[in-house]
Amino acid sequence: MLITPAVDKDPARIAGMFDAIARRYDFLNHLLSLGLDRSWRRQAIRSLQIAGHETLLDLCTGTADVPLAATRVRRAVGIDFSLEMLRIGQRKIDAGVRGRAPVYLLQGDVTAIPCADASIDLVTIAFGIRNVQEPSRTLREMARVLKPDGRLAILEFGEPRLPLLRGAYLWYFRSVLPRIGALVSRHESAYSYLPASVGTFPTPSVFVDHLRAAGFAEVEADPLTLGIVYLYRARKALA
Ligand SMILES: C[S@@+](CC[C@H](N)C(=O)[O-])C[C@H]1O[C@@H](n2cnc3c(N)ncnc32)[C@H](O)[C@@H]1O
Repeated sequence: MLITPAVDKDPARIAGMFDAIARRYDFLNHLLSLGLDRSWRRQAIRSLQIAGHETLLDLCTGTADVPLAATRVRRAVGIDFSLEMLRIGQRKIDAGVRGRAPVYLLQGDVTAIPCADASIDLVTIAFGIRNVQEPSRTLREMARVLKPDGRLAILEFGEPRLPLLRGAYLWYFRSVLPRIGALVSRHESAYSYLPASVGTFPTPSVFVDHLRAAGFAEVEADPLTLGIVYLYRARKALA
């Protein structure tokens, strides 16, 4: 089953866009989400029920906020293809911001994860899968690298269903957010690309089907903040 990209997700273009906005990325994340992004990542990590012995692999790690928040794992590895995002993340790791578990960052493409089969306990990807040119390939790669029964948590934007809230939110997301984003990041299109890419992402029920097709079981889609964001939880299906 394929998820067809309708906006331009050429890897060099996407990496270049994140390289260009990397310095303002964290600030804008917190500003545009009114600080909610931190709590969404915390909820994703909590859903993994970490015992303490696990290796966590965070895909599309950006500035490493997910691995830095996963303080209870044995070790965390973050992969991203934007070197500038990773540079900011490495600075945060070196400064000892939050994290206690060792965090290692790798530059790479998440459509070909540089990890052995069945070597990882926990996989996460926060606000990343929507940007990947071949998301189905990445979903299969996640299943490949996870140990049998390994756990997955994905955060991705959704659209609230409550009619009044939906109207107000979509106005903010499509009209206000791109303007503030362009002003602060000084990048013309990065924050217009955000609503455009969310608009073409599968609905939660369709994305759940993609996860099952890629080899996941016990797949759940939990709306966070009234459906602005979805947390997808799953286990690698036992063969
Ligand atoms: C919106 S940011 C999310 C960053 C971080 N996970 C967070 O929660 O803030 C998306 C990230 O995905 C990365 N990315 C997109 N496609 C990728 C791919 N195919 N391989 C590796 N990284 C990718 C981008 O470089 C960017 O850093």
